[in-house]
Amino acid sequence: MKPFFQLHNGLMREGPGTADDVAWALEVAKTPKAARMCDAGCGPGTDAVTLAKLRPAGTVHAIDTLRHFCVAARSRLSHLRERATVEQGDMAQITGPYDLIWSAGALYFIGVTEGLNAWVKQLAPGGRIAFSEPVLLRAPTEKVSEFWAEYPEITNYEGIVTRVRKAGCRVLDHRMIVGQGWANYYDPMQARINLLRPTASPELIEALDAGQWEIDQWRSAPEEFAYALLVVEPT
Ligand SMILES: C[S@@+](CC[C@H](N)C(=O)[O-])C[C@H]1O[C@@H](n2cnc3c(N)ncnc32)[C@H](O)[C@@H]1O
Repeated sequence: MKPFFQLHNGLMREGPGTADDVAWALEVAKTPKAARMCDAGCGPGTDAVTLAKLRPAGTVHAIDTLRHFCVAARSRLSHLRERATVEQGDMAQITGPYDLIWSAGALYFIGVTEGLNAWVKQLAPGGRIAFSEPVLLRAPTEKVSEFWAEYPEITNYEGIVTRVRKAGCRVLDHRMIVGQGWANYYDPMQARINLLRPTASPELIEALDAGQWEIDQWRSAPEEFAYALLVVEPT
């Protein structure tokens, strides 16, 4: 197994968030009881389980490009049988109709405007999209710019709203994911690092150090960046 997946093996999440964020979005989006939902960029599938649990008459289609995460999501969703499916594929190519497209920390891989442009065409009438996106809470320090070096397009909340509008959508509501949502991601990762380090190969040590660096950067500047969770609809 590649060092990255050795580190991430068994983690419930691959980005910040809580079950309460999912519940909040379902309420804001007024997602119907028998909703057809998509978890785009599902990672290991924890949010897909929450979506299915909170809409017990609904269905969830989870999709991710990475086989490792699809295997984890399939196993996590297996008790839901025909109510949940997992596909290894490109979320830019999903086919609806969906009452809710949920995407935690994944839309930025294909671009907010570009992704929303594709997804609005896959919504059922009245359908909505809920997504979380990295957001700067203040002018970035050098440290924060380094943290987000692989996503130089990171912007503030107003910048995200501009990208939403460019896709012909409007924001119904938003909230910031701070604190517990980040701990849900980084605390279990810290535990994996501590567990693996004593017997790690040099390649794995590299991956552990990269993970530790990320955790330390977040711990040293938790008030400087967050994830914004937005619920949007086509205008
Ligand atoms: C930061 S992780 C978040 C995962 C999950 N939503 C969560 O919160 O645990 C982003 C995920 O998006 C997936 N991803 C990136 N680009 C994708 C694409 N074009 N199609 C499907 N999945 C994609 C990655 O493989 C990764 O699992």
